[in-house]
Amino acid sequence: MARLLVTGGAGFIGSNFVRFWRERHRADELLVLDAMTYAGNAASLDGVEGINLVEGDIRDGNLVGSLLRERNIDTIVHFAAESHVDRSILGPDAFIDTNIVGTHELLKQAKAFWLDQGSGRDHRFHHVSTDEVYGTLGGEDPAFSETTAYAPNSPYAASKAASDHLVRAYHHTYGLAVTTSNCSNNYGPYQFPEKLIPLFIINALHGRSLPIYGDGMQIRDWLYVEDHCRGIELVLERGKIGECYNIGGGAELANVEVIDTLCRSIDALFADVPALAERFPDAPAARGQDTSQLKTYVTDRPGHDRRYAIDERKIRSELGYVPSREFESWFDHTMRWYVENETWWSAVLDGSYRNWVAANYASR
Ligand code: NAD
Ligand code: TYD
Repeated sequence: MARLLVTGGAGFIGSNFVRFWRERHRADELLVLDAMTYAGNAASLDGVEGINLVEGDIRDGNLVGSLLRERNIDTIVHFAAESHVDRSILGPDAFIDTNIVGTHELLKQAKAFWLDQGSGRDHRFHHVSTDEVYGTLGGEDPAFSETTAYAPNSPYAASKAASDHLVRAYHHTYGLAVTTSNCSNNYGPYQFPEKLIPLFIINALHGRSLPIYGDGMQIRDWLYVEDHCRGIELVLERGKIGECYNIGGGAELANVEVIDTLCRSIDALFADVPALAERFPDAPAARGQDTSQLKTYVTDRPGHDRRYAIDERKIRSELGYVPSREFESWFDHTMRWYVENETWWSAVLDGSYRNWVAANYASR
């Protein structure tokens, strides 16, 4: 039986991971530590049994230290972060504080508990990171591998790169048993509706514009969140200490391709389910019109990376990872989840987020 501390477990990927782990490892202890920022929602953990949720900050060393000791934690899975590139451009400080200082505090506390105080048990610090640390690719460049040089371009990516280096250093210098995974863009249930896919689904349902940055030809490698969770599980169970693993979805798509799929899927769903026209009367699809009329090209994001792509040969060959389904199928599943879970997203889109959007996006 393992005793896990999951940081950021009330966020998008963290909550999916907690759900996934609870179903597959019923005997394990699961402690979630989450500061409940705008992106953290206890409702994302509704229905998950046998977990403890502590509201607190990874930068609070006393809290982290006492949780490690009191719960005798042997595994940390570290998701907690500020995660949105646009926010990092408008206000980088929180990214430095949480992603760099916060990760360092966790590492210090893990070292103190597992190494200095010599609890004597096997331990693991798994760090969840991003492919954005590698920077951007041209159309013909080979995909990012674990040996690609770091070249982060946004404050978000730079803060994650710094945290990756700290994790590496704590292994090499102190012998902390770490692993790191760098994954591509995730999508799926419980994603905060500021990221492309949930934002555009909800905008489409309300008949609001779909703001496409620049020419919309930026490429991302889309990873279904449950595949990501399986990748992390494989690294925890069979990954080599001190190693990094890239996890991708094998679905390299230009943003406009994702958005066109989204528009077509919403149109088809409204055609199949006439009751949706009553629930979402402002959607073009409610009037039999094309959702694509909402597409609006807006000013590009500063420093916008052109292409991300993951070379996942290492995790495939060493750990047997394979993405489980095609993008279109998981996308359809995701879109239906948002349509069916309006209660979840209308609760998370609270006043503070609306005000933030109004203040920061008024000019777009
Ligand atoms: P998210 O923004 O949805 O969730 C982050 C969670 O961390 C929230 O619950 C928030 O309350 C919590 N948190 C923030 N600051 C904290 C602090 N100081 N102390 C404790 N908790 C804090 O993010 P996500 O999309 O679930 O991403 C999870 C991890 O995966 C992040 O480390 C991110 O960098 C990485 N990642 C995400 C993606 C993606 O596509 N979403 C892709 C690659 C890597
Ligand atoms: P996002 O979901 O913010 O993830 P990331 O920046 O980490 O890749 O954005 C995915 C892509 O979609 C990215 O190229 C930016 C683009 N995008 C838009 O065109 N419009 C939007 O409103 C948003 C949020 C993103």
